[in-house]
Amino acid sequence: MDITSAEFTISNADVQKCPEGSFPEYAFIGRSNVGKSSLINMLTGRKGLAMTSATPGKTMLINHFLINKSWYIVDLPGYGYAKRGQKGKEQIRNIIESYILQRQQMTNLFVLIDSRLAPQAIDLQFIEWLGENAIPFAIVFTKADKLKGGRLNNNISQYLQKLQEQWEELPPYFVTSSENRLGKKELLDYMESINKDLNK
Ligand code: GTP
Ligand code: MG
Repeated sequence: MDITSAEFTISNADVQKCPEGSFPEYAFIGRSNVGKSSLINMLTGRKGLAMTSATPGKTMLINHFLINKSWYIVDLPGYGYAKRGQKGKEQIRNIIESYILQRQQMTNLFVLIDSRLAPQAIDLQFIEWLGENAIPFAIVFTKADKLKGGRLNNNISQYLQKLQEQWEELPPYFVTSSENRLGKKELLDYMESINKDLNK
């Protein structure tokens, strides 16, 4: 699939104020700084579309981007950023949870995992919560450019093994880098195939 147009639509703290209509949407979630906004820029080929930062906690709202005038990519705030303080963390958690649980248009959630790290409790708990709430999701390993082949493959198989302790069937997964565009075609094709199914 080619992305021919990508436009910022709206930012929101309130799920009720997200765009009306029935366009399907694909949301990106994960720990603060895992690379959600960078991945959205890589996928759309628009460098400054989603705001990125080397310091965690950049994205604070639900951001809608209209793609090819017919579906949305949604950039969500990251979870687990300690420096926000208890109140700040609760606010963000509230935004994330209400979006995921209430947004009917959300067709698939991409859960981003830093490919450099051993499985982290915070991500595993979040994935478990998705399961409890029957949220459709896929895993996206990020920052693959930062690891050499052997370690990358090791980390990914270790992660999948960990997930197998929780899940009978593994979710779809993708290995990506926003630096060298690894995984771009696979992710875009995946979203296109879901869009096609929805239009049948
Ligand atoms: P929050 O909005 O704070 O939750 O963060 P985010 O998940 O949107 O992360 P963001 O895209 O802002 O990226 C965080 C940092 O990681 C930035 O310094 C990016 O340049 C860097 N980064 C993101 N993706 C990649 C990648 O694939 N490779 C490398 N080398 N760096 C990356
Ligand atoms: Mg961000």
